[in-house]
Amino acid sequence: MKPPPDIERQIAFDFLRATEIAALNTLQWLGKGEKELADAAACDAIRGMFDLTDMRGEIAIGEGIKDDAPGLFKGEKVGTWREGAPRFEIALDPIDGTTNVAKGMPNSLSCIAAAQVDGNVGPCLLDIPAFYMQKLAYPLAVRKAWLADPKLPIDIDAPVGEVIDVTARILGKDVRDVMVCVLDRPRNQGLIDDIRRKGAALRLIQDGDIAAALAPAMRTSDIDLYAGIGGAPEAVVSAAGLRCLGGGMRAKIWPRDEEERQSLIRMGWGDRLDKQFMSRDLARGDNLVFSATGISTSPLLEGVRVRGTVATTYSVLMRARSGTVRFIESHHDLERKTIHLRSTQAENRV
Ligand code: FBP
Repeated sequence: MKPPPDIERQIAFDFLRATEIAALNTLQWLGKGEKELADAAACDAIRGMFDLTDMRGEIAIGEGIKDDAPGLFKGEKVGTWREGAPRFEIALDPIDGTTNVAKGMPNSLSCIAAAQVDGNVGPCLLDIPAFYMQKLAYPLAVRKAWLADPKLPIDIDAPVGEVIDVTARILGKDVRDVMVCVLDRPRNQGLIDDIRRKGAALRLIQDGDIAAALAPAMRTSDIDLYAGIGGAPEAVVSAAGLRCLGGGMRAKIWPRDEEERQSLIRMGWGDRLDKQFMSRDLARGDNLVFSATGISTSPLLEGVRVRGTVATTYSVLMRARSGTVRFIESHHDLERKTIHLRSTQAENRV
């Protein structure tokens, strides 16, 4: 009997097209101070591309509960929904780093993680109803060392100084050369102080922690660790990317206050408030596809560049099953290029 076709292999390029056109359609809002309009433009492009994609897709993780944005939300059906079309769970962030886009600052991208629905695995992309998670992301070499010796302090609850020491040892670096990226927020101040005291190389970012979480696992990045408290949906999208890259992440729910803690308990999450989720718990199975396109330049990807009538996009497309990581530089001829938007149900000039 012929083996079933490897659908993910083909559809992955539609996810790539979706993040590419989201980035292209967002460009008009770079630096314009209009977060919501930028988000709306990215979502319009992604929905438009999904309308052409032969799948039965459902958003598992969309705009976070903390964002009052015109986004794609959990439960929304996307794709053609043709009978017999493959089913996909989708977690996405049409723009991670919306404030950066609004301010014309670096570090923003559009990304989609998708998992082909597999009756044996159940939901693959864990929807955590919290605002924030405490995260620690690390490279493949560190993950392998921990697998060989689970007593190593690659752990959210371990003092960050110990995590840095062990990372330095595994990577063969001096502590001062271990680069740790942290989201610059008051809630991360204790961590920031500890990293400075340790003498490691700290890099603070203003927004956009998906790129930062993936960076330690990318050969092209200088960042060795990503640590600190950032968005919960972003943790799951990052976990899917890390599963493809081979790096690892730990994440723990970080309720902002007692009220959120109680509400999580009421929603049945009481037994998981102290759990350290691994990337495999957040993004399960091997049917994972991840695509991201830079909007403005981040540690992961260059942003969109326009020279005359050509726009160049830089993307990464990867799959967990094969571990193939493709960096794709696309040149779009703006005199010919059209993108399909949901709002117009038609092809539009960029
Ligand atoms: P948005 O682009 O959705 O605004 O997210 C940006 C971001 O910086 C994420 O990358 C990060 O996980 C989260 O916000 C941090 O949340 P907060 O800004 O509330 O500290």
